[in-house]
Amino acid sequence: MARNKIALVGAGNIGGTLALLAGLKELGDVVLFDIVDGIPQGKALDIAQSAPVEGFDANFSGASDYSAIAGADVVIVTAGIPRKPGMSRDDLLATNMKVMKAVGEGIKMHAPDAFVICITNPLDAMVWVLREACGLPHNKVVGMAGVLDSARFRHFLAEEMQVSVEDVSAFVLGGHGDTMVPMVRHSTVAGISLPDLVKMGWITQEKLDAIVDRTRNGGAEIVGLLKAGSAFYAPASSAIAMAESYLKDKKRVLPCAAYLSGEYGVDGFYVGVPAVIGADGIERIVELELNETEMDGFTHSVNAVRGLIDACKNLEGA
Ligand code: APR
Repeated sequence: MARNKIALVGAGNIGGTLALLAGLKELGDVVLFDIVDGIPQGKALDIAQSAPVEGFDANFSGASDYSAIAGADVVIVTAGIPRKPGMSRDDLLATNMKVMKAVGEGIKMHAPDAFVICITNPLDAMVWVLREACGLPHNKVVGMAGVLDSARFRHFLAEEMQVSVEDVSAFVLGGHGDTMVPMVRHSTVAGISLPDLVKMGWITQEKLDAIVDRTRNGGAEIVGLLKAGSAFYAPASSAIAMAESYLKDKKRVLPCAAYLSGEYGVDGFYVGVPAVIGADGIERIVELELNETEMDGFTHSVNAVRGLIDACKNLEGA
């Protein structure tokens, strides 16, 4: 059986990390694509040379021509510019929108059967632009945000309660910005919900509130530390989990920016919700029953995403 083909559009910090992880997990052969000639080729060769040491088999190549992504099973898009300190994800909108249009054209022409995962920010708007540009079915184009935001939440919770990250499960809903809604009631340690853990004295309400806040600003915290660029290890891990669920038909339930057609009262754009990812792409949206506070937070977040989509439409008309 031939190996899967994974195309990485954007060979920067996240792209390079994605390539290494795809290799280490033997998900398939990897093509790195970038407009800057030399970078994708150099990273491909470097990672290929780590394979004998790490003991994995996969072909790695780099290209600056879209024909190289032909026939890809999965395309992961990180092309564009990342944030600098003081910038919000939304400040990237105009520049990255143009990039998404070019990338979408490339996918439409060369990889129309792929499962496409967008990482470029501002995520919820960029995945919408990318889908419009490539014309693939909505269930085959998805945004990576929720796995990352939930991973940040899980890390902070595990650290605070001194338990394994593996036993902490968490969900974050809504857009990938500071309006995101960490779902306290639905997050657990070994099946025990966070409100119950507060009652049990494992964590104080104040600590929990602070962690919710830190999660919302998790990306900005790293931008502030790195100063040049934004987070890349955890974003890459998160997208690889989504790609793996698709390629292996694992049907994992992962929070991601999925296209909603009426679910959660949202119609016609992408917002972070839990979804089942399997061989058909986004196979099912999980509709949680939200209480009033959660619904308020979610609505606030959805309105922020709607504002970004409107800004994209206005730029389009400009
Ligand atoms: N086509 C292909 N690649 C492009 C294009 C384009 N039109 N425009 C820019 N790129 C490439 C750049 O040359 C660069 O190599 O995209 C890459 C982006 O890499 P980095 O600058 O290292 O950014 P990274 O940290 O990987 O983040 C990429 O993901 O999380 C988001 O906010 C982040 O939008 C940013 C994206």
